[in-house]
Amino acid sequence: MHITIDHGQRPIRIVQLTDSHLGEQENATLLGMNTEQSLAYVIDMLVERSEEFDLILATGDIALNGAPEAYRRFQEKLSRFQQPKVWLAGNHDDSSAMRDVIGYGAEMSRTVQLGSWQLILLDSVVAGEVGGHLAQSELNFLRHCLAGHPDRPALIALHHHPMAIGCDWLDEQQVDNADELLAIVHEYDNVKAVCWGHVHQDFYRCHNDVHYMSAPSTCVQFAPNSPEFKLDSALPGVRWLELQPDGHLATEIWRLTGVHLAVNLESTGYQQ
Ligand SMILES: [Fe+2]
Repeated sequence: MHITIDHGQRPIRIVQLTDSHLGEQENATLLGMNTEQSLAYVIDMLVERSEEFDLILATGDIALNGAPEAYRRFQEKLSRFQQPKVWLAGNHDDSSAMRDVIGYGAEMSRTVQLGSWQLILLDSVVAGEVGGHLAQSELNFLRHCLAGHPDRPALIALHHHPMAIGCDWLDEQQVDNADELLAIVHEYDNVKAVCWGHVHQDFYRCHNDVHYMSAPSTCVQFAPNSPEFKLDSALPGVRWLELQPDGHLATEIWRLTGVHLAVNLESTGYQQ
């Protein structure tokens, strides 16, 4: 199944939802935070603003440990929205469990036509590893998409970060062959933006007219510019993107406000 969204000259707006870490049970926690509850708050915020986006892009770590129940509940939560959704897997996901739940429907699309733009979803997951890598087949797929639509501005989405973000402990987990991805980005001037999850924080950089950015998690946040593992007290959120027909892009972070979510800010590692 293929998704095409076209509103003529109106920009296409995307909500990037990432790293929800839903457990097998609804009461699962990550570093002291109930991930089901935090996602529910984020979904409520999006319901309030549902006129402001046309697509939901989930950039991985939907589940805490790949439980099918997590994907079922995630899908059910997103069913409150009429907008199309696309999902890609993160290192905490089990892509076959994901596929068992959502089948080969629109959510598994690898490309989406968004007005004059194309969105290309890449798989950066290596089985059993925390860090990311882009297989040759993914790089070939990217080239194929970019060469096939040279006139379409492109947004590339993946789970892992393709550049250092300033947190040493996370930067060890970035896409280990990111130079190959960035070489393709530089080669095809229709690439306008690259977005990812995994880092649980807002990162943005514009380099050679290409926007590079991450999104906050819908649960715990990692502290920016921290050499070692450190949580941040910022509330969960999403990234909003507006793709303009001429290839320009605007973006914002939408965060929860006025809610209390327990989190163990003293945690010194992912498993605690
Ligand atoms: Fe991740």
